Amino acid sequence: MKRKNNGMQQGTLKRKNRKCSVDDRDASVRALVTHLQECILIIDKNGIILFANEAFRRLLNIHDNDCGNKHIRDCIAKNDTARLMRIIHRSDPPHKEYRGIVLHAIKRDGATAELSCRIFPVPYGGETCHIVSAVDQTPSIEMNSKMEHLQHLASIGTFSSGIVHEFNNVLTGIRGYAQLADKDLTNTRLLEKAFTIIEAECQRGAELCKNMSLYSSRTKINPEPVMLRDLAETVLSLQKRYFQQEKVTIEKQYDDIPDIMIDKFQIQQVILNLIINARHAILQKGYGTITVRIMDHGKTIHIDIEDTGIGIEEKNIRRIFDPFYTSKGVIGLHVAGKEIKGSGLGLSVSSSIIRKHGGEITVSSVRGKGSCFTVILPKIIANMRPQTDAAACRYPLHCKRKPLKILVVDDEISIRELLFKALTAIEMEVILARNAEEAIAYCKSDLFDIVFLDYILPEQNGDNLIPVIKEHLPQAKIIMISGWVSSPIKKKKLEKNVDAWIDKPFDVSQIFSCIDDIAPGDGITH
Ligand SMILES: Nc1ncnc2c1ncn2[C@@H]1O[C@H](COP(=O)(O)OP(=O)(O)OP(=O)(O)O)[C@@H](O)[C@H]1O
Ligand SMILES: [Mg+2]
Repeated sequence: MKRKNNGMQQGTLKRKNRKCSVDDRDASVRALVTHLQECILIIDKNGIILFANEAFRRLLNIHDNDCGNKHIRDCIAKNDTARLMRIIHRSDPPHKEYRGIVLHAIKRDGATAELSCRIFPVPYGGETCHIVSAVDQTPSIEMNSKMEHLQHLASIGTFSSGIVHEFNNVLTGIRGYAQLADKDLTNTRLLEKAFTIIEAECQRGAELCKNMSLYSSRTKINPEPVMLRDLAETVLSLQKRYFQQEKVTIEKQYDDIPDIMIDKFQIQQVILNLIINARHAILQKGYGTITVRIMDHGKTIHIDIEDTGIGIEEKNIRRIFDPFYTSKGVIGLHVAGKEIKGSGLGLSVSSSIIRKHGGEITVSSVRGKGSCFTVILPKIIANMRPQTDAAACRYPLHCKRKPLKILVVDDEISIRELLFKALTAIEMEVILARNAEEAIAYCKSDLFDIVFLDYILPEQNGDNLIPVIKEHLPQAKIIMISGWVSSPIKKKKLEKNVDAWIDKPFDVSQIFSCIDDIAPGDGITH
């Protein structure tokens, strides 16, 4: 007992001996701040940086000596500097703290880092200065975009297996009717039926191609006018073959909503994720119903995907949006002879997509009864539909107008012939070029009112010919015909350089309505 007491006394003594001076304490605090992982700045009321710790200097690649008297505007984006200065100049009570302020720091190489900041006043050298304590969010943003990419790759598998299945059906229909009609060319009723089916199947094939090309890799939002009910129908049709196998009934309830501005591909990916989750939940129960609702809530649109599946335990609801949280597992659950696999990325990526659209996803669920996921999107109504949309076709076949002289540049013989037949049928004068070389020769030696230009040509892309056409035929209108452009952003840029744009496969009546739109008068060459 005695010894114990002695020990305690010695401990107190040691602690007392370690009592540090004010200078020591200052030095420790300075060392702590300097080496903190958080970026720390002290700025005066004029925005001059009085102190920047190591983390901040490392982030901005500033050397120690560079820091003295640097202004905050040299490190922070212009708009953010103005916002920060407004905060500094507010006459707030002492210790008032601003949290979650996002500032964009400009690095030496011009790249930006997104900082989430706390800003609060401190007395410093006899005046009130401000501490900006910042955490670099860039790594988590990069992580999100990597996750989106992973999810994108995973969904391509699901999506393409649906596409392959649908495409085989399309081809079977076309082939079957073509073979039947070929056997009896005198049977006009059969021929009529075959053409109707072939035309409808081609339309379906064209839609599938469009969907596939929408799956080109991109993470930024690319809003375009979209009819939500069509989008929901596309996803349901791609999943339709599973519904019967898995005893899933579908119910739909669509409000009448005009086209809204959303990223078609990304929202489609979200709906697909939610439908697959609903299917899996029902599969684990045996049978059930998925209800898809699209509802107009004034300023927002709600998309409900409700199922009567197994539901989610209350303790897990908070976790389902976490990346890689899954109850299915990469190895897979085996239910009713089927294997259900999941990577746990579906909901986290979906919610990130919806947040980027300015919306949110909510969920309500009862274990054993089912779940309802609601996607809430801001209702941004589209003003215009694209000019070349099939719905805008209004120039009737065989409707004659004053003749124009037209150059068609396409390496595909079937497209050249189709355009030749369609255009000469309305008495246009048509010249055909098979490649860039022939096209340039015609542009130099002849006059044309309109040039139909294929985007992908054997030696060079059609857009390389635009300056040549404009130089030799300044009055000619250019209509670009394209089957594929690598990215929507590139397509947007290209569209600006031409008078009209038609996507392959096109409807013949689109050609006429397009001519009518861009060249309403008589031909300039006649
Ligand atoms: N409709 C639903 N009913 C019941 N549980 C659900 C439902 N939707 C999601 N969950 C639960 O949330 C988890 C996470 O869903 P999420 O879509 O993120 O990943 P996943 O479906 O497991 O895998 P992935 O979508 O990446 O293939 C699921 O594993 C499941 O446990
Ligand atoms: Mg999922």
